[in-house]
Amino acid sequence: MKYSRAQVSLHWIIFLLVIAQYALHEAIVNAFEAMLEGKPSLNSPLVSMHLGIGGIIGILTAVRFWIRIDTGVPEKAGGYPKIFDMIASVVHLSFYGILILLPLTGGFAWYQSSEAAADAHGLLRALLILFILLHLIAVLIHTLIFKNKLIRRIWLN
Ligand code: HEM
Ligand code: HEM
Repeated sequence: MKYSRAQVSLHWIIFLLVIAQYALHEAIVNAFEAMLEGKPSLNSPLVSMHLGIGGIIGILTAVRFWIRIDTGVPEKAGGYPKIFDMIASVVHLSFYGILILLPLTGGFAWYQSSEAAADAHGLLRALLILFILLHLIAVLIHTLIFKNKLIRRIWLN
């Protein structure tokens, strides 16, 4: 059993967009600081990209969640301790929550000059990194220790 083409495509498109958000973070940090200090806004295209890509991630994550509710997820492969499936469910659902809350807190921080929302944006980023690390460790454990083909479930062929 595998994830659908739509689920697989969205997984990797969102992955690339999240990497872009971290890679291009400098401009938005500087622009936000300038805004809080009341300086004229820094209209760099990199700032618009952070806002735009972040919004797209939120929308694609919502679409992906809707597909998940509509068509479900493939049955777990099994053959390893059940606790892994339980942790996976928590981490996977958290990804949806975090990737929807990030654009909301970011938008609130930017458009309302809210430092509290910026702090929440920061906390969510730290959580996202933590969950991505757990997610990668899980893939490694499945591949190297349980020696199963889990990774194929999220691949197109
Ligand atoms: C899933 C989507 C998003 C991710 C992964 C993300 C990630 C990031 C990262 C890595 C930084 C740099 C923090 C630093 O180095 O100190 C940042 C800052 C910021 N982002 Fe986002 N962002 C997302 C969506 C958005 C959206 C949609 C907006 C606004 C509409 C936004 C507004 C901001 C602002 C104002 C800052 C500067 C303030 C701060 O440091 O928190 N973000 N974001
Ligand atoms: C931004 C980084 C990433 C995010 C947010 C993310 C998110 C997710 C989510 C939410 C699911 C579960 C889908 C569902 O059940 O509805 C999933 C599944 C999966 N991801 Fe990722 N992922 C990321 C990066 C990666 C990377 C880099 C790899 C490979 C090295 C990977 C491999 C997998 C695999 C193998 C599954 C299927 C797990 C299963 O069958 O239960 N992911 N990912």
